[in-house]
Amino acid sequence: MKKLAILTLAAAAFGGLSLASVTQEAHAKAQCNGTTKPCPLQKWMRDNVGTPMASGDLVAVAQGIEKIQAFGGPAMKDWTMMAKKTIDDAKANKTDDVKADCKMCHDAYKDAYKNNTTLRNRSLP
Ligand code: HEC
Repeated sequence: MKKLAILTLAAAAFGGLSLASVTQEAHAKAQCNGTTKPCPLQKWMRDNVGTPMASGDLVAVAQGIEKIQAFGGPAMKDWTMMAKKTIDDAKANKTDDVKADCKMCHDAYKDAYKNNTTLRNRSLP
């Protein structure tokens, strides 16, 4: 467990280097595991939604979610609706509503997404 945490930290620290990025991309194509090999949407969410959300950049959050609004699995009927609500609230600068929107989709679909190996290993569009 401790080893994993250190590896994850090291990966995060070196993530900015281009060589590491290339390696990470190659890894994303192999089976990801959500820890030492983050999965495509997981890594993408961290970089494009989690980071701007943490710094209060709701414009970037809206732009990020726009890119994944049709990225749910076939059984995830409300994915697009939830993504659209997140985009609307981010554009309206409603931070608390956006936070609730993130949670709504995560509660509804995060586990299902993570447990579906085919979905989880897809590259982003
Ligand atoms: C339409 C659905 C949806 C919305 C809306 C959404 N997410 Fe996600 N998010 C997911 C799914 C599914 C995953 C799991 C991906 C995986 O682990 O493969 C995820 C994963 C993440 C992760 C990665 C967590 C980890 O394991 O490191 C972060 C960070 C994240 N989301 C942040 C956000 C934030 C912040 C918002 C709101 C601004 C948001 N998400 C809105 C579906 C969504």
